[in-house]
Amino acid sequence: MRIQVIIGVLLIYTQVAMGSLFHDHVFCRFTQRNQCYVAVGQHLHLQMPWEDGFDLKTNTGLILRYRKTQSSPLTPRLPRWLFVNDNKTMILTSAERSDSGTYTLNIFDVDGRNKSSSTLQVNIEARVSSVELSYSCLFSEVRKVYCSADGDNLRFNWTSDSITRLEDDNKTLVLDKKHNEKVTCHVENHISHNHNSIELPECADFTIVFVFVWLFEVIILLSVLVGTLYIYPRFYRKQRTPERPGSSVDLDQD
Ligand SMILES: *[C@@H]1O[C@H](CO)[C@@H](O)[C@H](O)[C@H]1NC(C)=O
Repeated sequence: MRIQVIIGVLLIYTQVAMGSLFHDHVFCRFTQRNQCYVAVGQHLHLQMPWEDGFDLKTNTGLILRYRKTQSSPLTPRLPRWLFVNDNKTMILTSAERSDSGTYTLNIFDVDGRNKSSSTLQVNIEARVSSVELSYSCLFSEVRKVYCSADGDNLRFNWTSDSITRLEDDNKTLVLDKKHNEKVTCHVENHISHNHNSIELPECADFTIVFVFVWLFEVIILLSVLVGTLYIYPRFYRKQRTPERPGSSVDLDQD
């Protein structure tokens, strides 16, 4: 008896834990004002009306025709859909991106006359995952931090002590402060959110590097200039001198 109770409690606990861990389903109804957002792989429960008849359609065609008087079992015409007659719920198991679209519900009275129709926009999104950060030093005072993530319809947001400006649809943060600091990139879509942080090291002082590069270029340019103006004509003259005795020989032969 006691063991059964313990096992029962354990079972309930596991189911609650599993449920909260996987957010097993989203519940939407045609009477809601907002759009319906579901994660890829999640279940969608669509509340159907307690009426004499209804048709559920997508952009591409009919999913379910329900008539109260109908005796044959009600099976949806699309795979991954189930209809639970007891609570008039349509269940989409393991949503895919291709299930996104406008769903239409037409309600009929007992004589088969159209009573009303309503639509629901269903959006299936991939959850936000693998938020990654990288940075680059542009000048000693300017740094860019780049944020990237996987998922659909992503929105980017930052927390940082100093934000100069945002670029590339808020995916890039431009900072002009030199001191080390931590910045966090927040990524969200309609069904999930995620974040990651990066500790920014101080950027090397690039002015010295620029001066060296500039000096190096000046030296190369000067060498080329000296080469063309001074060394090349002398070298050219040296190369031509051996020809003279040859031509004089020719002259001698004449
Ligand atoms: C970028 O962020 C600003 C302010 O945080 C916001 O108003 C704007 O809509 C965002 N742009 C995009 C494309 O997310």
